[in-house]
Amino acid sequence: MKNEKFINMLPLQTRRLTIRPTSTLDVDMMLKMDKQEVTQTFLGGIKNKTREERIAFLERKASKFKDGIAGSLTVCLKDGTPIGISGLSIDEDNNIGKIGYIYDYDYTNKGYCTEACRKLIEVGFKKLKLNKICADTVKGNNSSIRVLEKLNFKLEGTRRQAAYDKITKVYRDFLDYGLLKDEYK
Ligand SMILES: CC(C)(COP(=O)(O)OP(=O)(O)OC[C@H]1O[C@@H](n2cnc3c(N)ncnc32)[C@H](O)[C@@H]1OP(=O)(O)O)[C@@H](O)C(=O)NCCC(=O)NCCS
Repeated sequence: MKNEKFINMLPLQTRRLTIRPTSTLDVDMMLKMDKQEVTQTFLGGIKNKTREERIAFLERKASKFKDGIAGSLTVCLKDGTPIGISGLSIDEDNNIGKIGYIYDYDYTNKGYCTEACRKLIEVGFKKLKLNKICADTVKGNNSSIRVLEKLNFKLEGTRRQAAYDKITKVYRDFLDYGLLKDEYK
């Protein structure tokens, strides 16, 4: 029900951005981000996916919306250029949203991720009446942590050695963050 309500509100607009469902239109952005070492540092390293594989991946993302499940959202400049992904998934049973994000490195550190997530959080609390929005990030991913801090998320705990990084061959800790509706202003 809340998934459908959210899907029907798309696209969302912010001052500089349009937020729409991810689609195969985003294949070039995806292939570009796959090859950006800095973008993939905390995401398992550079991806060697073919265009066909990425189109199939994006089709799976898009089909979720057709099935009434909100997920991956593409963030575009007002001229339509896709610059990154900021998703909001909704766990209706527990009334919790979860945000995630990845941006083309050429468009980072301009406040775009924070601006898009701020809009998703506003919609999540004010329109969808969620009780909580959460996020997780790898320990050491300081730009991601900074985004969550700017959005007033609270650190809730550490999942120790929760993922194995094949590139550096180390286990990485995950940090769990959350924002409750009562903390949202
Ligand atoms: C994390 C990410 C989405 C942030 O996107 P963005 O559009 O650059 O975010 P914003 O511009 O809104 O905010 C970034 C903040 O991090 C800060 N920052 C950047 N690099 C940093 C670093 N190494 N250490 C600390 N802070 C850093 C910026 O200065 C900015 O903070 P400020 O506004 O106080 O100056 C982007 O860096 C990215 O795509 N990273 C790779 C993918 C990834 O790791 N995703 C997260 C998975 S959990």
